[in-house]
Amino acid sequence: MNVSLPVPDRVEAGDREEFREAVLAGLSRTPRAIPPKFLYDARGSELFDAICELPEYYLTRTETGILADCTPELARLAGPGCALVEFGSGSSVKTRLLLDAMPDLAAYVPIDISRHHLDATAARLRRDYPGLRVEPVCADYMALEALPIDLNRADVNGVPRLGFFPGSTIGNLEPHEATAFLRRARTLLGDRGALVLGVDLKKDPQRLHDAYNDSAGVTAAFTLNLLRRMNRELDATFDLARFAHDAFYDPLEGRIEIYFRSLAVQSVAVAGRIFTFAEGERVHTEYSYKYDDAGIAALAKSAGFTIDRTWTDPARLFAVVYLETAP
Ligand code: AVI
Repeated sequence: MNVSLPVPDRVEAGDREEFREAVLAGLSRTPRAIPPKFLYDARGSELFDAICELPEYYLTRTETGILADCTPELARLAGPGCALVEFGSGSSVKTRLLLDAMPDLAAYVPIDISRHHLDATAARLRRDYPGLRVEPVCADYMALEALPIDLNRADVNGVPRLGFFPGSTIGNLEPHEATAFLRRARTLLGDRGALVLGVDLKKDPQRLHDAYNDSAGVTAAFTLNLLRRMNRELDATFDLARFAHDAFYDPLEGRIEIYFRSLAVQSVAVAGRIFTFAEGERVHTEYSYKYDDAGIAALAKSAGFTIDRTWTDPARLFAVVYLETAP
């Protein structure tokens, strides 16, 4: 349910170089893989927003429904006067549910890698919540060592920090990365901190399959947009008609796996190099891990959190978990 932003296709030279290096490394290794963060160029972000509205993609609307119901209790657990820190804030749509329930926040700290998203979001929130102190941080939250010193100013120094990581973005991390992220979040949030985490739950495999293979083909367009991006930014020669989106649920691993698959033997130029694909060869683009209660508990424990409260929808499709730093 994110709002589509008219994002200009500005690509910084450093970003393009990082993309080039990741793609060349990812296509040179076996099996081939390209990190999921590169799916989110301007068009990719728009397509993801469209995915969130799809009938098959229950995640966004289910989580939003849970949050709408649980925010009063969540606000009570967090207590008055804390700083809300959102990891990967995007357009901060779900955040508004928390902001509405917590009118006395010391500050809202959205962390996002996209300066464009961050500035647009901060401007909108300052307009809609005039009393709210908004302290945007432009950073990759997976690599952030500390919150900016500004937050330590006397007026907000020492206030408890409440982290927010919705959307089951944790599911796009492999388990060791998820633990590393949560450990980092725990450090950033401090000893009196807590974290509100959105997690997609294990369920009927067909339902999961459908959520990543929608009938309108939006998820396929999202995956194949990565080829379009390589063509545009890396002078690649991918013929989109000769590759397909491939997504399926692996019940043993408890994850959706997503790839683009070559429909024929073919050679493609990318940034001046030639890569040959076998017919049926897949290039991995995303995992989307699904959790059960035991998995969430193990994940929380691995990073030094305890689970204080779990809210789910009646069909137990999705969970919102309130984690506290273990003493
Ligand atoms: C962002 N993330 C939680 C989505 C998911 O469900 O794993 C990304 C996505 N990829 C295809 N559809 C949705």
